[in-house]
Amino acid sequence: MNVALLGFGTVGYGVYEILRKTPDIKVSYVLDLKKHDDIEAISVTDIDPILNDKSVDTVIELIGGLQPAKKFVTAALEAGKNVVTANKFLICESFTELSKKAKEKNVYLRYTAAVGGGIPWLINLSRLSRLSPPDKISGIFNGTTNYILDSMESEKAEFDVALKAAQDLGFAEADPSADIDGLDTLRKIVISANIAFGGVFDSNDTDLFGIRRIKKADIEAAESLGLVCRLLGTAEKTESGASIFVEPAFLDKNSPFAAVKKNFNRISISTPLDENLGFYGAGAGRYPTAFTVVNDCLDIKSGSLEAYSSSFEEKCVDNSKISHKYYVRCPIADAWLSSVTEKSVGEGVITKEIPVSEMHKNAKRLLNESDELFFAEIKVGV
Ligand code: HSE
Repeated sequence: MNVALLGFGTVGYGVYEILRKTPDIKVSYVLDLKKHDDIEAISVTDIDPILNDKSVDTVIELIGGLQPAKKFVTAALEAGKNVVTANKFLICESFTELSKKAKEKNVYLRYTAAVGGGIPWLINLSRLSRLSPPDKISGIFNGTTNYILDSMESEKAEFDVALKAAQDLGFAEADPSADIDGLDTLRKIVISANIAFGGVFDSNDTDLFGIRRIKKADIEAAESLGLVCRLLGTAEKTESGASIFVEPAFLDKNSPFAAVKKNFNRISISTPLDENLGFYGAGAGRYPTAFTVVNDCLDIKSGSLEAYSSSFEEKCVDNSKISHKYYVRCPIADAWLSSVTEKSVGEGVITKEIPVSEMHKNAKRLLNESDELFFAEIKVGV
């Protein structure tokens, strides 16, 4: 196997190090913004030499972000090269287009590291979905936010200090807004839903609320209820398609999600046959992600792969049928919030059960009046 590596950052360098010790895989090119004189591979800043070199059979894209990654991946597939990527933004946005292009060109498109980092989650999800399509997937998909929430809870760390530590450890996205606003989790749950439910969901139709506005008072409110805060992505099958949303959740201390510390991820899947399976591991970081990328290369090399999913029917998101109780901290008086409030806790309130779509719609409205809002679903017994 003759590989070109696009991107030489945290994960890219990890992949390069592992591949140098992997028999029968040669890294011929490294593409980066700047030239590297100290590597054995040919260092380039332009994709054309890679596309024109017929001996390169596989391109590993680890640049991240939508562009120029999409342009490069599309050109590589078009040139008849396999593509391995860890780019959840790219796969979430261009799921159908890139999957169809790979099929048309009879090459592999592998993106196991895009969801769950070091956990071979997507491979197992696609295997499970063949025999017993899931009813529900729920999980901690983002290492940075889990690191922040765990540090705020266990070490009483300030939000900014915990975020900086996650950035220094190389977990966070180049723009950490994608982590703390929940977009990274959203992209991962949408990709998982596409595979699980055999269709394609539009991330713009989902509901999303991250942890940017969380304060110590919220962690303390969860503690006073005997609960722990985690950021969850959820996809649940409905008659018309699926309910898909990302939001903080207050969970029982004995929930398997509450036990997830540092940058680790945990994804649960419920299927009619296997009531509840859990997948746990490092969801971010150089070597866990790099090993998954290299394993995708080895799977291509062994040539016995099926596509993760082969159905590209557009499916609907409907978050009006799933309801929860919520913890809401809102510094302004609001008639809707009063009408759904059951009791007070710390600086916030607990609501009666309300549909996910209603909570998110009102949160958007309230955020226009005050940037201080925070909410979390109350998820006990899970
Ligand atoms: N920023 C991501 C995370 C990297 O923290 O999980 C892995 O996708």
